[in-house]
Amino acid sequence: MKKLIATALSLIALALVTSASLAVAQQRAKANAAAEAVQGRKLTTIKDLMDSIVDPSADVVWGAVGTVMDQDGVHDTFPKTAEEWLNVRRAAIRIIEGSNLLLMPGREAAPPGTKSETPGVELEPPEITALIKKNRRNFDAFARALQAVGFEAVRAIDAQDTAALLEIGGRMQDVCEGCHQAFWYPGAKPPYPIRDQQPNRK
Ligand code: HEC
Repeated sequence: MKKLIATALSLIALALVTSASLAVAQQRAKANAAAEAVQGRKLTTIKDLMDSIVDPSADVVWGAVGTVMDQDGVHDTFPKTAEEWLNVRRAAIRIIEGSNLLLMPGREAAPPGTKSETPGVELEPPEITALIKKNRRNFDAFARALQAVGFEAVRAIDAQDTAALLEIGGRMQDVCEGCHQAFWYPGAKPPYPIRDQQPNRK
């Protein structure tokens, strides 16, 4: 009788373990399917995303406030009309959403066949792709940091706070440079590639 109970108990235990591992396997299958679905999406590359969305939008934010010098001396520049403020706000929104696009997995660094413009300083795109895969959490942290300064920029824009916007622009550049240093030209020493520079900040 004891033996029978023991056998029954171990059968129940076995059933429990089996159903637990079945559930785990099912979850894994679901996760794999989700990953495949993401991979099935048509994505452009990080290079394209930088070129089409992140970089031109950052230029609008950086260009909105600063100082210019002309024959009459030094002037502060800032958006004046509602339309000008709206233009900067749209750029900040693109930076926030561009960060979401950076957070999407499965994006290659650059289109096939693209070569580093400064080999030995900037990694080749397949090397960048591999580095991001290996350090995904770090890459995502930079993308989230970019998104956070994007939200700060929107708040400063809505308050028409030009001093804050200038300061946020500086921190945004640090985020750009931080990610580029980690994933694009990890061996490089400052000054970094000129393409990375904020136009009206010295
Ligand atoms: C999460 C990481 C990350 C952040 C944040 C980031 N970048 Fe990039 N960026 C990259 C990587 C990686 C490349 C290299 C892509 C390649 O060449 O394969 C790149 C490339 C570029 C390029 C070159 C594009 C080209 O056509 O060759 C520009 C310009 C650029 N980034 C601007 C910016 C600016 C401006 C910011 C901040 C507002 C920024 N990036 C923020 C990862 C990032």
